[in-house]
Amino acid sequence: MKERLEALRREALDRLEAVADAAALNDLRVEYLGKKGKLTEILRGMGGLSAEERPVIGQVANDVRAAIEEVLANKQEAFDRAETARRLRAETIDVTLPGKAPAIGSLHPLTKVQEEIEDIFLGMGYQIAEGPEVETDYFNFEALNLPKNHPARDMQDSFYITDEILLRTHTSPVQVRTMQAANGKTPVKIICPGKVYRRDDDDATHSFMFQQIEGLVVGPNIRMSDLKGTLLQFVREMYGPQMQIRLRPSFFPFTEPGAEVDVTCAKCGGHGCRMCKHTGWIEILGCGMVHPKVLEHGGYDPTEVSGFAFGMGIERIALLKYEIDDIRHFYSNDLRFLKQFAKM
Ligand code: DAH
Repeated sequence: MKERLEALRREALDRLEAVADAAALNDLRVEYLGKKGKLTEILRGMGGLSAEERPVIGQVANDVRAAIEEVLANKQEAFDRAETARRLRAETIDVTLPGKAPAIGSLHPLTKVQEEIEDIFLGMGYQIAEGPEVETDYFNFEALNLPKNHPARDMQDSFYITDEILLRTHTSPVQVRTMQAANGKTPVKIICPGKVYRRDDDDATHSFMFQQIEGLVVGPNIRMSDLKGTLLQFVREMYGPQMQIRLRPSFFPFTEPGAEVDVTCAKCGGHGCRMCKHTGWIEILGCGMVHPKVLEHGGYDPTEVSGFAFGMGIERIALLKYEIDDIRHFYSNDLRFLKQFAKM
């Protein structure tokens, strides 16, 4: 039995010496040391040995197992090392190859125009305010002098969530929110950009969602001329120093007096063309002196302070600036459209 064990050792070690890969190595492990392997098979004969022989043969068997296991382990380690080396070689990155340029996006034209408008007003000392898109009836209408059943509510068809909660139809509710937060202090000088929602059918000039920028100044002795000067400054920074504005009387429940502002048609320079319907003027925003009732809702005494406000559509400002003919271009995310603004 001892001879058989020694022969097994030699045979196993010879074959291990010649083994070519990890899979073959594992086969040999099973063949020699496995539960049904050759070593086990020889040891099954131990039962027939005498009590003196048994420990001797047992010792030899252990030696044989240890010798085979050692070579198995060494081989395994060598294969592992070779495999790691092979993978490292296969996955080498040639850092001298030219890279793939990542596709870098650009700001959306509306974002650009919004930031441009913000910069102009920040330059005039305004702060940026925000308000919720889901608004209460009180801030969206009531506090702006539009009580329930006021006919002017029809001017802005709304998405109601409950009787008292709706998607804001304009950024004007931020006027009263800001005044209330100011707690009677002056001056208040803010602009508020944001999304607004109206139940309109989408077409070239309407969208159920669009964006506005509201402006509000409150303080002692704020006059209509301050409003006019501010808007002229804004228009000239936005469209060029040759621009003129004109104010036409208009009505908004939250202003007294109210006005609509036209700017020189940028396309024809005021001579008259198709874009301005041959008037030389393009309407860009609504504005006015803050209505006394609105000042009261904001916590001010209208005999002591006054204010002006304005509201403009960002899309409209952008359409005019870039001579875009359809508002839907802004929302369809057609890269051919968007890429034109990447380098502007
Ligand atoms: N909120 C008005 C609208 O959405 C725009 C507007 C007009 C805002 C006059 C004002 C304002 O602040 O004074 O049509």
